[in-house]
Amino acid sequence: MGSFKLSIDATPEIMAMKVADRFSQCLEGVKTPLVCPASGTTPAPLYHELVRRHQSGAMDLSAWYFVGLDEWVGMNGGDEGSCRWWLDKDLFLPLGIGEDRICFFDGRSDDLAAQCAATERFIEQRGKMDVVILGIGTNGHIAMNEPGTDVMAGSRVVSLHPTTQTVGQKYFTTQTVLEKGVSLGLGTIREARHIFLLATGEHKASIIQQALEGPVNADVPASLLRDHPGLEVWIDEGAAGRLGRTGL
Ligand code: PGA
Repeated sequence: MGSFKLSIDATPEIMAMKVADRFSQCLEGVKTPLVCPASGTTPAPLYHELVRRHQSGAMDLSAWYFVGLDEWVGMNGGDEGSCRWWLDKDLFLPLGIGEDRICFFDGRSDDLAAQCAATERFIEQRGKMDVVILGIGTNGHIAMNEPGTDVMAGSRVVSLHPTTQTVGQKYFTTQTVLEKGVSLGLGTIREARHIFLLATGEHKASIIQQALEGPVNADVPASLLRDHPGLEVWIDEGAAGRLGRTGL
């Protein structure tokens, strides 16, 4: 199954507390951490907890740098429902993070290749990403790396799988065309020191079972992270429902 750490918690809220604790451990002694936060429903309780700790003085996130994981092509932070829009709302604005500390794909740019190059450069200039926070799609995608993806890929424009196009509607208030995305590739993600893969809810149980216990191949992109030495899988009991082994 791989030697990654697996943690199974009773609820998403308990999980969020423990992942926030883990952040403090992983970033201890790192002066200017570089963190890559996924948008999406799953990490939202974690972001609320990080904001709460920052605002209460229990944790100081003011020196953190952030790099965007992915964005819908045709959108940026000005578009309600975009990846950046959610992260502004849940993380960057409540933390008071300045634009100089964030590198994020502008999916409205007419030069997306330049956006990708700038993102790779931003990461390179800071050495490595310290922590990448990931969700998982019900089709096994990681960021917008869809089934069939290249494990070595860097940042690039991708065509979205029909499941992503359908499930992605939940982030928007009106029906939205979602055909392409711009995303960090698995090659870039795999260069991070720590990868936290998060999943909650029974609707993720089947794909979590495939990602952790099924064959390692590009049909389930999340399975391609299994041999990463810094992988930690954080799931709740709902998402763990089909696993054949007990968490640590
Ligand atoms: P979710 O998205 O956290 O909203 O379920 C996960 C993903 O598609 O990567």
